[in-house]
This record gives sequence, structure tokens and C-alpha cells, in this order.
Amino acid sequence: MNNEMLRKKVDQLTIQEKIGQLIQLTGNFFDTHNDSVVTGPQKKIGLSRSYQINNTGSILNTVDKQQIREMQRTHLLKSTHKIPLLFMADIIYGFKTIFPIPLAQTCSWNFPLIEESATVLAKECYEAGIHVTFAPMVDLVRDPRWGRVMEAPGEDTLLGECYAESMVNGIQGNGDAQHIPKGKLAACIKHFAAYGAAVAGREYNSVDMSESMLRNFFLPSYAKGIEAGAKLVMTAFNTLNGIPCTGNKWLNRDMLRDTLHFDGVLISDYAAIDELITHGYAENQTSAAKQALLAGVDIDMKTAVYANKLEKLVKQNQDLHALLDEAVLRVLMLKNDLGLFDDPYRGIQTEEDITNTILSKEHKETALKLAEESIVLLKNNNHTLPLSRNQKVALIGPYAEEKATLGFWAITGDEADTITLKDGLHALLDTSCLSVARGAYLLDKHTENLYDKYNDKLPVESEDEETLLEEAIAIAKTSDIIVLAVGENTYQSGEGGSRTNPVLPATQLRLINALSTLAKPIVLVVYGGRPLILTEVEEKVSAILYAWFPGTMNGLAVANLLTGKANPSAKLSMTFPRSVGQIPIYYNELRTGRPQLDEENTHRFASRYIDQSNLPLYPFGFGKSYTHFQYSDFRLNQEEMTKNEQIKVTLTVKNTGSYSGKEIVQLYICDKVASITRPVKLLKAFKKIDLKVGESQRIEFEIDNNMLKFYHPDGSFDSEHGDFDIFIGKDSAEHLFKRRIRLVSKHNT
Ligand code: NOJ
Repeated sequence: MNNEMLRKKVDQLTIQEKIGQLIQLTGNFFDTHNDSVVTGPQKKIGLSRSYQINNTGSILNTVDKQQIREMQRTHLLKSTHKIPLLFMADIIYGFKTIFPIPLAQTCSWNFPLIEESATVLAKECYEAGIHVTFAPMVDLVRDPRWGRVMEAPGEDTLLGECYAESMVNGIQGNGDAQHIPKGKLAACIKHFAAYGAAVAGREYNSVDMSESMLRNFFLPSYAKGIEAGAKLVMTAFNTLNGIPCTGNKWLNRDMLRDTLHFDGVLISDYAAIDELITHGYAENQTSAAKQALLAGVDIDMKTAVYANKLEKLVKQNQDLHALLDEAVLRVLMLKNDLGLFDDPYRGIQTEEDITNTILSKEHKETALKLAEESIVLLKNNNHTLPLSRNQKVALIGPYAEEKATLGFWAITGDEADTITLKDGLHALLDTSCLSVARGAYLLDKHTENLYDKYNDKLPVESEDEETLLEEAIAIAKTSDIIVLAVGENTYQSGEGGSRTNPVLPATQLRLINALSTLAKPIVLVVYGGRPLILTEVEEKVSAILYAWFPGTMNGLAVANLLTGKANPSAKLSMTFPRSVGQIPIYYNELRTGRPQLDEENTHRFASRYIDQSNLPLYPFGFGKSYTHFQYSDFRLNQEEMTKNEQIKVTLTVKNTGSYSGKEIVQLYICDKVASITRPVKLLKAFKKIDLKVGESQRIEFEIDNNMLKFYHPDGSFDSEHGDFDIFIGKDSAEHLFKRRIRLVSKHNT
């Protein structure tokens, strides 16, 4: 159908039918067996009439294909205008084949591979009959106390942009901009906007930031996803400078629609329209419905606000009726772009043409590759790693045999499909070389309130803690090396998983302390949804491999890295603080008038702490390899450029170690003087290269005017003439090359 036909379709609908298109409910509202609606959930959210359920436009988080087919069938039988239901779900980093959590994925800096993972995600969802995924989440994050950093691309704007683009391309396909091809889904950029900056890292808390900070750091990743063609955007739960995002007209109409040119469907986050009342921004549901519609929110996720209040509002006000029509048209356009009017059962296969895509060998291979490239080697003293063949290994820790390594948002994944670390090591080491013990509990008992609903998903610790420790010490004593698999529990991160003190549980710290007295090398493998604070344990171990939540292929990926079958190449997409007191800590901070000039700074009146270093434990961009990369022969083709020119920086990188490996070469820029204070440095380009032993490669970066631009207070995006420092290095802290360049209006000849 073309837009004209869709417009006509909107005109044919009654007001109630139009509103129905804007309602999103969960599957438990529908009873497909007896064609009736279920009154329990209906009452709970205050839906007053059953016809509202019959007119519903979309369904949230029903992912079973038989159920989807049946719900669609019964819906179409009842629907006067035969408008199919849209099925939307939270498939954030994998449907059945689960990839590493997004924060880990961006540590790979391998965006073609991330796109491939999103392609797999889309394929598996497509065959289940899902139409929209609420991914990618592209909120920039600087505070590891916030549990949702696990779903985010990290602290850097450029990595956020690359992630947004590759995910949208992988999910939606980057061909024909309008129609979503077979095997693909519609993508939803979220959460608009700046949800990652919640004060004190506390979930759902308010956000207060300057427009300059918003435009220069936080908005670009959303903008990139929209530019890549994302069909949906989701509002954020938080307030932004005092106004809840879901009722924020400036944010959603002026910024999102007019400035960022988004013309797709804007969906509220879960119950966020109703929460305008709790925010103290709307007096009642009528005013909440009006605020949200005026702000341009098309779909009301999981509340009865639009369902119960819009009818009266639009009958009284023609302008609001026009806004309702616009919103309905956008929803119908999305259904049309997905081809649902032609095939409402899109993607669902009949028994005869099942292709066995789900968890296929190819999908698992992609998941393994991405996991290997996402896991970061943070420390490796005296070449402790890789393990050598003849070493006797004691594999200890609550993550040694743990299958729950998928992370909080893998709601459709099955833990039974994950490979444990023990299984991974068994596949690679001689069984006589490997002994295993749990050593400690995964969680401290009764210390954190993880929400009743998850209690039955927490590990059952039936053994006595003392006995666990003794068993661990016994096997450690007879081994050459200890691989200690520790970490936080799945439910300690993710939505509602904010922590004031993101450290390892006391039970695990006790284990680490006990083993560290045995004078054996310890390799710490850490699982978690955020950068945990490792200061206390860092000195007690010889090596640290940060596994995050690596997904289905967990054990094999970690084992391949531990044994050197794969060489670590990941570099951090988020800073690791030394202490909670340093948070928020991020590499691209704004310059201060009193910088700390060196670590031994004896001046009191500098921007520093008196009780701790300013430096993080591990900086953004940091990650080690088993091999060594030597950088040399830096050249700049010119030191001055106009806005129409480029400067070329070239260098040679050589693999001088004894393993093949991948290196991520990073280029940062600092604008020396500008009309607003600019960051100490900003990542502007990177290259990931693969070098065999002894091999070298000449690398070229091209610095152009776009890299020097920033948003000015009047909203313009431009560069300013003057000096810029260029840094090239292996991470954001250690620069092997530094030169000054100059942007001029014309050359002095
Ligand atoms: C709330 C979360 O904030 C959002 O990311 C998610 O997509 C929705 N719930 C739907 O489950």
C-alpha cells in the first residue's frame, strides 16, 4: 500500500479503532483458546472495556511462534478492517543464540562482526514471527553503578554511533530504506534521551545536563541509529532537565522529529505515560494522555491511558484528533513496511520449510568469534597466560560450572544451551590436568535485594561455605596454576540492578584472599554486567581476563583465550574506576582550569583527590594481547589544513611478539582553544588490524574537518580555526605519538 491508501485506511477507522492502534499490551491479555479476553490483567491496568483489547494494535514480549500465529489468527477474525497485530519484543543481543552483552560487544571494536551478530538475531526472531525488537539501546554511560550499562555501548560517542549503525543495519537490513526485507525486523533506538546519565547511577532517576553536553556527547548515537533508518524510537523513563522525556515536546518534536528527522513510530517505555503522573508532571490520566500525544508519542506501552482517555480528548479538540490520525498513520506505515497487510504471519514457517536456523552451527560460530573478541585481558604479569599444555590447572570458583552467563536481558535465551567454563577447558586440556572446585558462593546471603521474582533463579547453595573453601584449597595445592572464575550474579545488573558498591561478593573475596596465600599464580576470570571495582583483588592475582556475560558460547570462548587458541584483542569501551568515589569517571572529560599535571602533584589547589589518584584502574581503550605490537615511523603529510582539506597521519604497526593477533590502533584529538571548553581528548578514529608474527602494516588515518566539528550553543555544528593535538596510541592513556595540527582559513603561501 502507498501512503495515500494508508491515509484512507486511517479515515475509515472509528475513533476507538484508531486509538486501538496506539495500544500495546502483553500477550497475557489474550486467551487464544476460547477467543475471549482475560479480565485479570485488564483490571490491573484499568482497561475499562474489552473492545479496547480487541482493537489493540501491538503486542509486547510474546515470542512463541505458535502463540503468535494463534493470536494473529483470532485477532484478524475479529478485526473489522483486517489490520494485523504487530509483535514487538526485547531481543537485545540474541534470540536463542545469545551473544555477549552489548557493553562487551563494543569492546571488540569490530562493528562488521557486531552487524553480523544482529543479522543472526534478526534471522532467529524472524522465524519466530517477531516483527520489532526493542534494540539497540544506545544510551551513553559513565556510571557503573547503573545496572543497565550492560545493555549500552559504553562511554564513548564514536563507539556509540558505530554500534547504533551496525545494529540497525544488522536488524533491519541496509537495502531499500522503506520496506523491511524477509529475514529482517524493525529496529527501535532507545531510550530517548540521555537515560544513561541518571543521577548517582540510580535506576529511573532524573537527568540534568546542559544542552551542549546533550548534543555533543549523548545525542549522536541516537542520531546515527535514526540516520541508519531505525523505524522506531522509544522514550526514556527519566526526566531531562526537569521534564519527563515521555511528555517532553521539545525533545520529541523539536529535537527528534525536526532536528534529527525521525519520521517513524515513537513508542513510550513501559508504563511511562502513566508515570507522567508520578513524576508530578501530569495531574491525572487525561492530562498525561494529552501531554504524551502533544509530545508526539505514538504508542502507549502497557497502560490504559490512551485507551481510556484519548477518545474524549480528541472529540473535544480537532487539533488533537489530527495528532491522533498522524500517530495511527505512522503505526500503519510500520505494519505496511513490514509487509504485514500481505502476510500477517510474516516469517513463521510451516513444519515443511523449517530451516533450523535457530542455534545453527554458523550462528554459534559468530557468537564464539564475537565472544572471543569481546573478552578483555586486563592483566598478564610474567606471561602467566596462555596456559601451557603440561600445566596442572585448578579451576575454582562459582562461575566454573555456571550456566547463567547470558546476562540480564537475554530473556529468550536458554541457559541449558550455554557452554560452561569447565566444559570449555575440558575440550582443550587433558582431563588429568584439570581439577574443579566451587570454592565459594556466587552471591552473599541476604545482602542485596534482588526482587522476589528472581529468587527462584538464584543459585542454590546447599554446601557449607567452609567445606567449599577447604576443597578449593586442597585442589589448588596440588596444581601449578589456579584459574579462578568469579563475578557478580546476572540479577545484580540489568534493569533495576543499580549498586552503590559494585565489587565482588564477600564470599568470593574470601576465596581469593585464601588462595592468594598459596604462592601459586592466579588467573582471575571475571563475569559481570558492568566494570566491577577490582582494586582490592588486582594485586593478588597474576592475570585478569574480563569475560563480562559472554553468552551461549561462554566456556569455549574463555577456554580458547586462556589456552592461547585465540589471542585476546578486546579493548575497554568503559573505564574501570579504582573506587566508587571516582564515579562518574570517563576518559573524555572536559578540561578544567586547574588540571592535575602529574601523579606526584604536590599542589593542593588542583583538580584531584587528596586520598586517591585521579587515574582509573584501567582506562578506556585498554586491553592486552599475548603478543606485542610495536608502533613506529609516524608521519604527518602536512601540519596545516583548511576546512576542505585533510591531513594524513601514517604509521607502521609490527607484530614483534610470538603470537598472531589483532590490534586496535586509536586516534584521539584535543581542540586546544574553542568557544566552549572541549574535552581533554576525544576518540575520532580507530583501526582494527590482524597481524601474523613478524608481520607489519602501514596504517593511514585521514583527519578531516568533520572530526573537528562540535555543536555550538546556537545548535550549529561546525569547527573553529586554531590548534588541535593529535594523539595515537594503544589506549586512551598511553600515547605513543603526539603532534599539533592547525585548521586555517587559508594557507599563508
Ligand atoms: C522497560 C525497559 O526500559 C525497556 O528497555 C524495554 O524495552 C521495555 N521495558 C519493554 O520490555
